Amino acid sequence: MNDFSGKTALVTGASSGIGESFANLLAKSGANLILVARREDRLNALSEKLQADFNVNVEVIVKDLALPNASESLYQQTTSMGIQVDVLINNAGLGTHGSFLDMPLAKHHQMINLNIIALNDLTHFYGQDMAKRGQGAILLVASIAGFLPVPKFSTYAATKNYVLALGEALGNELKSKGVTVTTLCPGGTLTEFMDVAGQQIDGIRSLAMMSSDKVAKTGLKALTRKKRVIVPGWLYKLGISSLRLFPRRLQAIFGQLATD
Ligand SMILES: NC(=O)c1ccc[n+]([C@@H]2O[C@H](COP(=O)([O-])OP(=O)(O)OC[C@H]3O[C@@H](n4cnc5c(N)ncnc54)[C@H](OP(=O)(O)O)[C@@H]3O)[C@@H](O)[C@H]2O)c1
Repeated sequence: MNDFSGKTALVTGASSGIGESFANLLAKSGANLILVARREDRLNALSEKLQADFNVNVEVIVKDLALPNASESLYQQTTSMGIQVDVLINNAGLGTHGSFLDMPLAKHHQMINLNIIALNDLTHFYGQDMAKRGQGAILLVASIAGFLPVPKFSTYAATKNYVLALGEALGNELKSKGVTVTTLCPGGTLTEFMDVAGQQIDGIRSLAMMSSDKVAKTGLKALTRKKRVIVPGWLYKLGISSLRLFPRRLQAIFGQLATD
């Protein structure tokens, strides 16, 4: 793992899964951290562990990023604490499985607010500061669901399509300003995500699940190598690169088969 010592990284969704793995790996490589999520007990426990194990500074900020203006309030909080964010890990995300029409609009809005608005706005706020300094790194967590239509995960997949499109464009646009933007597109990963999404993973699909540590490690490696887009795991890489051989109508059938 590359050395992040002396850098400060802000990790959203650090209370579990891939975000917690990011926090562990970054602290291990010497980064000071700002951990953000809603579950304060989890964040505090992680903060204590990381400070004890790796002797780094860790701040906990409890925030519901799906609420209006949450990103601006987070940015103002870190600014008033005098913190300079060198690495932004935009990881917090939420998926809900089910019929588009039967799902309450509030669920759709929660996904759009968290997966799109919060990620977009944090990238805007911290990206401006990084561009002024002429250096910084931003990682956006999308999903393989961002590459194809996924019935029954339709809004979630559409939000991740946004993240992927934004990340690819900013990877190009911000390069000249010294800001690296990497978009991480995981496939199935063993976290709380599927429980929260209300979907069971069983049978053959459970064989393709990756660990959150592997996914986060792949993401950080790609970030330090200034890669634009990274899909962890050879199976998922192969699947995504073969998608373009098929028409979108067929891709939607694959998307449904993968999640039903
Ligand atoms: N697991 C997979 O198979 C998979 C595949 C592709 C992409 N991803 C993406 O990976 C990212 C991390 O997910 P994960 O798999 O690690 O799932 P996870 O274990 O459920 O973690 C999600 C994290 O997001 C935080 N979060 C959720 N709602 C939030 C809100 N309103 N405000 C602030 N934080 C919030 C959660 O913390 P609190 O509940 O404490 O707020 C938690 O720390 C997501 O963007 C997800 O879309 C996951």
